[in-house]
Amino acid sequence: MMESKQFFIHNIHDFVGQTVIVKGWVYNLRSSGSLIFLQLRDGTGFVQTTVIKSEVPKTVFDKAKKITLETSVIIRGIIRADKRSPSGFELTVKDLIIVSLSEDYPIGKKEHGPDFLLTHRHLWLRSRKQWAIQRIRNVIIYSIYSHLEKEGFIKIDAPILTPNACEGTTTLFPVPYLPAWKDPTKPPSMRVSLPDGEIKKEEPYAFLSQSGQLYIEAAIFSHGKVFDFGPTFRAEKSKTRRHLTEFWMMDAEMAFSEHKDNMKAQEKLIIAVVQQVLDKCAKELEIIGRDVKPLEKILKGGFPVITHKEAIEIVRKEGIAIGKRDDFGAESETILSNKFDKPLFIEKYPKEVKAFYMKEDPDDTSRVLNDDLIAPEGYGEIIGGSQREDSYERLLQRMKELNYSIADYEWYLDLRKYGSVPHSGYGIGLERLVAWICKLDHLRESIPFPRMMERFNP
Ligand code: 4AD
Ligand code: MG
Repeated sequence: MMESKQFFIHNIHDFVGQTVIVKGWVYNLRSSGSLIFLQLRDGTGFVQTTVIKSEVPKTVFDKAKKITLETSVIIRGIIRADKRSPSGFELTVKDLIIVSLSEDYPIGKKEHGPDFLLTHRHLWLRSRKQWAIQRIRNVIIYSIYSHLEKEGFIKIDAPILTPNACEGTTTLFPVPYLPAWKDPTKPPSMRVSLPDGEIKKEEPYAFLSQSGQLYIEAAIFSHGKVFDFGPTFRAEKSKTRRHLTEFWMMDAEMAFSEHKDNMKAQEKLIIAVVQQVLDKCAKELEIIGRDVKPLEKILKGGFPVITHKEAIEIVRKEGIAIGKRDDFGAESETILSNKFDKPLFIEKYPKEVKAFYMKEDPDDTSRVLNDDLIAPEGYGEIIGGSQREDSYERLLQRMKELNYSIADYEWYLDLRKYGSVPHSGYGIGLERLVAWICKLDHLRESIPFPRMMERFNP
C-alpha cells in the first residue's frame, strides 16, 4: 500500500494513469452487485472511486462492502479520465484500508430541517455545500488581507475585553472581569454603569468588543493606515437572518481621509474581494449553485451613492411607513438593495440614529458624514463607515448630550488633543459579505459555528 505516492484530489489532473494513494472519507456510496461506488472527500475535493469485484482480491471487495457513510479510508488505485463523471476523473480501486468505520451517520440523504442541521453543525460542515462555503469564506479573508496590504495598511490587533461601548450600550456583552473581581482598590473605570438591576455597579465588568474601531483610531497616529480583523460581539435581541451575536469584522481606519475617500476605499475593497472569489472559487461557486453574473456586474465599480433622505423617499413610495429621520429596518434595506444591481452607498444619516463618534455634516449639522454600504440582490448592509469627529470640543459636547461617562473615554478624547487630523474608516461584517457572495438565505451558514440569540452550541 505505502509504496504508491499520496495525491490530493484538487491536483487529480496531474495524476491520470498513475497508481496513487488517497486518504479521506466516504461521503456517499452505492453498489450494484459486482460494483461498489465510493464517493470520496479528502479535504481538497471530491472524487468517485470504483471497486470492481472481478479486479480486486475477495478480501478487498469484502472490506469495501462493509464501508458506511463517513467511514475514513486509505485507498490505492489508478486515476482515469472519465467524461461521465462530474469531476471528469475516476479512481479504480486496487486496495483499501478502513481507518475507522462510521456507525449510523446521522446526516443522511433525506432532507433535514435547519434545527437538526444546526444541532449537528460539527458534522454538517462536511457536506459539499458547507465545504464550498467555508472555502469561499477563506478566500474572502485572504483577499481582504492582501488587498489591504497592497494599499499600505498594517494590521493592528484591537482588544476583545474592553471597558466601554463602541456601538451603543443596548447590545453590550458584559463579562465579569475576574482579575479585579471584588477588589475595592480597582479604579471606578472598571465599574459598569448599565441600567440598575442588569449588573451590580460596584463589581468590575468588562465588555466583549463590538468593534475594534476606537482602538485602531489611536493607531493611525502611529501608522497612518491600519486595520483590525477579529471576532466581535453583540447581544442582539432580534432573531433575523442577518444577525449573529458573535461575528467577524474587519475595521479599517485612515488618517487624512475624508468621507468621499472613505467610500472610494470601500468600493475598491469590495471589487478586489469579488474579483478574487471569481478567480479562485469557480468550483465552489458551482457547487453552491451561485449565478456569477450579478457578481461580475459589480467589478466595473461606479457604486451608486444616495442620501438617507433620498433613500427614505424610495422606501416610502414602496409603501413602507417610515419616519423621515428613522434608521432602515430589514424590510427597507431589502427594498433598497433590490433597486440597484451594484452595491449602494447610503450617506448622511440623521445624527440620532448613528454612533457618537461620527462627524457632523457641515451642510446640515443634524446629519453625519457616514455611509452604509448595501449589498445587492436583497442582502442589505454589509459595511458601516464614517468620517470621525476630529474636534475635541464637538466630540465632548456630543458625548455629554448622550450621557456618556466621560472618564471612560478620556483616552479616546486625547486623540483629538494631540495632533488631531481628519480621519475616516469603516467596518465590514465578514459573515454578511460571505452570505451575499454565496447568496445564502441566512447568516448561520456563513460561519463555521454560528452563535445566535437562541443558540450557542455546539
Ligand atoms: O455598522 P456597524 O455597527 O459599524 C461599526 O461597528 C463601526 N465601528 C465600524 C467602523 O466604522 N470601523 O457594524 C459594521 C458591520 C455591519 O455593516 C455588518 O456588516 C456587521 O458589521 N454587523 C453584523 N454582522 C452580523 N451580525 C450582527 N449582529 C452584526 N452587526 C453588525
Ligand atoms: Mg451599521
